[in-house]
Amino acid sequence: MFYEVVIPAAGQGKRMKAGKNKLFIELIDTPIIVYTLQVFDRDPDCKRIILTINPEEESIFTSLIEQYGIKKVTKLVPGGKERQQSVFNGVKEIKEDGLVLVHDGARPFIDHSLIKRLTEAASSHGGAIVAVPVKDTIKKVKENMVIETVERSSLWAVQTPQAFRVSILKKAHEEAEKDDYLGTDDASLLERKGQPVVIIEGDYDNIKITTQEDLYFAEAILHKKPVWR
Ligand code: CTP
Ligand code: MG
Repeated sequence: MFYEVVIPAAGQGKRMKAGKNKLFIELIDTPIIVYTLQVFDRDPDCKRIILTINPEEESIFTSLIEQYGIKKVTKLVPGGKERQQSVFNGVKEIKEDGLVLVHDGARPFIDHSLIKRLTEAASSHGGAIVAVPVKDTIKKVKENMVIETVERSSLWAVQTPQAFRVSILKKAHEEAEKDDYLGTDDASLLERKGQPVVIIEGDYDNIKITTQEDLYFAEAILHKKPVWR
């Protein structure tokens, strides 16, 4: 099923404390963002990649795209202050209805079979997201005191990609902007309007590289699955 993908890459990577956008950090010998771009560049179902970036970093992105021969990035779009605005700026570039995926630049370990399952679900339901069952016991806490233990069987840790019919995602972003609603993912913009979002069970390897220790996990994943190298 054909789709376009918006990849937000305009963050600052503050929690990584690397003094630069974490997406430029190299795993083994390749920057994180390159792994992510390569997955979509090599997926025959992906029609094009819209990358949202910090304009000050445009020349870095342009040279990586050239150096690694990435073909499908048709547009570098300026990001916004928050991730949601960066995604919205990217989504606005899509003129035809169809399927759009939103995928964090900081999640390099997705595979084509998962994308396929996700786009099929989004095409039937309007919205679909990748998630994994939570493994830890989760407690609600206030001022260091436990309020309750949340029933784990109903908890899922949500990842990207998230896939939507273009018209549905566009409308959800427009309404969120109008209402000053800021969500931490795109699906929440549909959920607040009562629109269906289906869960596709994903992969624990599909980590978001956020803090320093994630770099060790990422290298371990790369060694385990050399298909990405
Ligand atoms: N992102 C973006 N625009 C923003 C903020 C984030 O495009 N204003 C992107 C990031 O580049 C990343 C993805 O959204 O690919 C997920 O965000 P996150 O992991 O939070 O990355 P950062 O915001 O860069 O990191 P931090 O929150 O630690 O500063
Ligand atoms: Mg962030």
